[in-house]
Amino acid sequence: MNTFWSKSVQSTELLDTSRKEKFNENNRKLWFNLLHIRNNLKILEVGCGSGHFTNMIKAYYPTCQVYGVDLDSNHIKFAKNESKKLNLDVHYQVADVKDLPFEDNSFDIVFSHTLVEHLPFDDFIKEQKRVLKTGGKLVIMRIDMIKKNDKPFLYLEDEINEIYNGFTYPKRPNVGEYLEDSDTTMQKLNQYNFKNIKLNYDRIIYYMPDAESNKKVAIDQIERNYQTKLSYAIFETDRCKVDAETKNKLLNLLKCQYEERLKLLNSNKKIFDFQSSLLITISASK
Ligand SMILES: C[S@@+](CC[C@H](N)C(=O)[O-])C[C@H]1O[C@@H](n2cnc3c(N)ncnc32)[C@H](O)[C@@H]1O
Repeated sequence: MNTFWSKSVQSTELLDTSRKEKFNENNRKLWFNLLHIRNNLKILEVGCGSGHFTNMIKAYYPTCQVYGVDLDSNHIKFAKNESKKLNLDVHYQVADVKDLPFEDNSFDIVFSHTLVEHLPFDDFIKEQKRVLKTGGKLVIMRIDMIKKNDKPFLYLEDEINEIYNGFTYPKRPNVGEYLEDSDTTMQKLNQYNFKNIKLNYDRIIYYMPDAESNKKVAIDQIERNYQTKLSYAIFETDRCKVDAETKNKLLNLLKCQYEERLKLLNSNKKIFDFQSSLLITISASK
């Protein structure tokens, strides 16, 4: 049983809350366009993590046959439970992208989100190409982690960062080790004889409560953001074996920060803090 990712890199809960924050109702159409989703297609997500995308596709395109695979058995267990809760018929299984348990030429779309940078490109691509139908779409998505363009909520931020700066972070083998420029990835797809190779850059602002006219949506954003920060703090304090006192101090600071943010919202004091990510999408046809 492989649980490397959920135990050493990101817990399933952390992946799930952060993905729910980023891929939401406001930007759903953009995501589906970038993935070329239409009705009646057979779609596979490789490295599907907690299954948030895969479940969203099935929820909005019920006529599609949707499959998700991941190497980490905790992620797949979670994804299966979530799809059951949502009454969605999604096929999840533990599998390695290097050895996919599917017939040749079986999918219309094969996609990944933040997987390409974690393994050698040949290992990443060979099986995806094999299971893709001729004329089918390959979509590779990743986030640009370097060019952040956020305005954080500054209340208690220095105190929180000071605690994180004191952690000793254990090394995580292979994580992000194969990160390449988009043009290199496109050159490689060309060498694999993919056609119509295209690149998209989309700046997604996924958190800006003061720009929401609907107060409930604004509160949801603040809560999701808090949940993500909390999951991150719990995961990293455990992973870095931080003592209980420091952990409690950090969790308490995050709670105070969250309460202060809600207070500002409720008193109509707009500060326009926001968080965004730069989504890089490369698509190609087999
Ligand atoms: C950064 S996470 C992204 C998860 C999901 N795509 C998302 O964006 O929420 C990378 C995922 O790839 C999975 N993974 C890593 N190597 C893999 C492999 N060789 N085959 C299948 N999945 C793999 C990890 O277990 C992890 O769930």
